[in-house]
Amino acid sequence: MSGFETLIYEKKDSIAYVTLNRPQALNAYNIQMRNDLHEVLGAIRDDIEVRVAIFKGAGEKAFCAGADLSEFLTAPSPIVARQVRWKRDVWGLFLSIPQPLIAAVHGYVLGSGIEIALCCDIRIASEDAQFGLPEIGLGIIPAAGATQTLPRTIGRARALEMLLTNRWIDAEEACRIGLVNKVVQREKLLETAEEMAKKIASYNPVAVRNAKQAVMRGLELPLAEGLDLEKRLALEVQLVANQTK
Ligand code: COA
Repeated sequence: MSGFETLIYEKKDSIAYVTLNRPQALNAYNIQMRNDLHEVLGAIRDDIEVRVAIFKGAGEKAFCAGADLSEFLTAPSPIVARQVRWKRDVWGLFLSIPQPLIAAVHGYVLGSGIEIALCCDIRIASEDAQFGLPEIGLGIIPAAGATQTLPRTIGRARALEMLLTNRWIDAEEACRIGLVNKVVQREKLLETAEEMAKKIASYNPVAVRNAKQAVMRGLELPLAEGLDLEKRLALEVQLVANQTK
């Protein structure tokens, strides 16, 4: 199952696999990939058979080396190019997906590459992964969520250091600071992501979705409101379980 110019989309049992597939350009994120991702994310969101999705990169060298610089250079100006690029709200769509998303990243994970990984719920890296935000060196700032998602993941000071100095970090450091959950050998990357996905997929899907929703929405709320949200979502899981008895 595929049919996309820049992505491979596959479904095995209840797991969806999305492979960024422009290895000749280190899977750089271009306008076509934006369109393809928009379509694939919509399909995942609306497919109740999909319990978990895994995002990965094709080729040996990269998960994704950031925005496609050749499109930047040919566009009338970086600002106009970015307006066009982000018009379809891939990032809002990403964050609205109810199923858990796992990023399995290797090699270069730069710019939009980090941003895609940060839109996922769990990140697994291989030992060769390198993370960086080169935007500041290009005179721009990230616009696919990193200024918001990165500090929420690794804290303000660490995020600002990466954003403002363009210091790249390796997999070990990324794991230490909580940017990724786990580091594994390159040859074990997909296998580890799959094991995790299968485990999640084996659980009650309503409980899984509601647990994700409670965390995602709750993080934006004061604690008391978060606890109320949790109560409602827990009740919903209970009600659905009772109905299916
Ligand atoms: N956009 C478009 N093409 C890209 C790309 C990008 N962001 N990153 C890499 N490529 C292309 C290269 O142009 C090259 O194409 P070619 O073989 O036709 O010349 C190919 O991918 C391989 O990259 P190369 O630079 O030869 O690999 P490397 O191992 O020497 O260096 C990087 C890897 C990631 C350090 C280097 O490619 C790089 O700095 N890329 C740009 C990163 C960036 O600034 N991203 C934008 C963030 S907003």
